[in-house]
Amino acid sequence: MTEVIKVDPIAPDEAKIDGAARVIKRGGLVAFPTETVYGLGADALNESACRRIFEVKGRPLDNPAITHIADLVQLASIAQEMPESALRVAEKAWPGPLTIVVKKARAFPSTSTGGLDSVAIRMPAHPVALRLIEASRTPIAAPSANLSGKPSPTTARHVADDLSGSIDMILDAGETFFGVESTIIDLTGDEPNLLRPGPFTVKELESILGTKVRVSSAAKGLAEAEAALAPGMKYRHYAPKTKLVLVDIGGDTDTTRHSTMFVADRYKGAGEKVAVLCADESARLYARQGYEVLSMGTRSNPYTVAKNLYSRLRELDSLGVSVAVCESFEEKGIGLAIMNRLRKAASLSVISL
Ligand code: TXA
Ligand code: MG
Repeated sequence: MTEVIKVDPIAPDEAKIDGAARVIKRGGLVAFPTETVYGLGADALNESACRRIFEVKGRPLDNPAITHIADLVQLASIAQEMPESALRVAEKAWPGPLTIVVKKARAFPSTSTGGLDSVAIRMPAHPVALRLIEASRTPIAAPSANLSGKPSPTTARHVADDLSGSIDMILDAGETFFGVESTIIDLTGDEPNLLRPGPFTVKELESILGTKVRVSSAAKGLAEAEAALAPGMKYRHYAPKTKLVLVDIGGDTDTTRHSTMFVADRYKGAGEKVAVLCADESARLYARQGYEVLSMGTRSNPYTVAKNLYSRLRELDSLGVSVAVCESFEEKGIGLAIMNRLRKAASLSVISL
C-alpha cells in the first residue's frame, strides 16, 4: 500500500512531515518533491532500505544515488574532505539545484553510492524536502522517483504511475519548479568537470569557481561511451516508448522549424502517424499541417521548456502516434540541460539534412 499525503509546498504541515520522517527512520521509502524533480528517499545510513530503492526502481546497483542533506554539519559524516572549491560552491549554491561530487568518508555506507569511493551530495531548496531531511535526522539517499529508464517525475501522479504499490508513501506538493534534475559537478579532480547539466548553469559555476568548467561531449548527451565516468550515464535514460526523432541542428532559427517540418513530412509520407514536440512559437505551424502537437514552452524563457519536458515525454506515449519528431533548442544556460535530456530520450538524432 502506498499512502499519498498532500502537503503544502511552502509551509508543509509538521505532523505530516513527522509521519513521513518516521517511515524513513524505520527503513521505509518515501517519495518527496524537490525543486527539480521528485526523489525516492530512504535513510542513507540504512543499507537494506537503500537496496530497496534500487529494487523498486529496477535500477542497476552500480548507478549511484544522490545523498540529500539539510545542514552543512551533515557533510562531516558523508564526505572524506570538502576541497575549498566544494565549500565555496556549496555556500553559494545550496540550498539549490546543484549536486557536488567529492570523496566519500570511509564510514559512510556505499550501498547508495554504487560502491564508489566518491559521493554525490546536494541540499535541495524545496521546503518539503528540507523539512523531511531535518525531521528524519539522517541524510536521505534519493534517486529520481521513476522506474529506471522512464522520464523523471515532476508530479506526484507521475510517481504513482511508476511506483504505486511498491513504496510506502508519496508526499504530494504539486508540480516541481524546474522540471529537470540538478546540475552535477565533479570536484574530485584537478579541474571541475560537469557530469550533468541542469538548472544551475555552467556560467554560474564558473563565476563562483573563478575557473573554466570542463563540459565533455558526454555532458552534452553526445557521447555515451565517454560517460562511463558517471556510472548512471551509461544507461539509457528518459526514454518514451514512442520512437523519438530529435532534429539536432541548433535552436531558434528558421532552419530549426524547416528541418523539423521536413523530417516530420518524410515520416508522414512513409505512412507513419506523426506528432511534433516543439516550442510554443511554432506549435501552430505544425498543427496547420495536421500534426499532433505537444508544445513544451517558449523559447523566450527556456526554463518553461525544461519544466514541461518530462510531462510531455510521458504524454507522448498516450497519443497513439508511431513517431514523434522534436525540435532542438539553443545550448545556452538551461538549454544545455534541455538538449542533454532530449538526446538521451531520442531513439534517433538527425544531425544534418
Ligand atoms: O535533481 C536531482 O538531482 C534529483 C533529485 C531527487 O535530487 N535526483 C536525481 O537522482 O536526479 P538520479 O539518481 O536520478 O541521478 C543521479 C545521478 C546519476 O546519473 C548518477 O550516476 C550520478 O548522479 N552520481 C551519483 N553519485 C555519483 C558519483 N559519486 N560520481 C558520479 N556520478 C554520480
Ligand atoms: Mg534518475
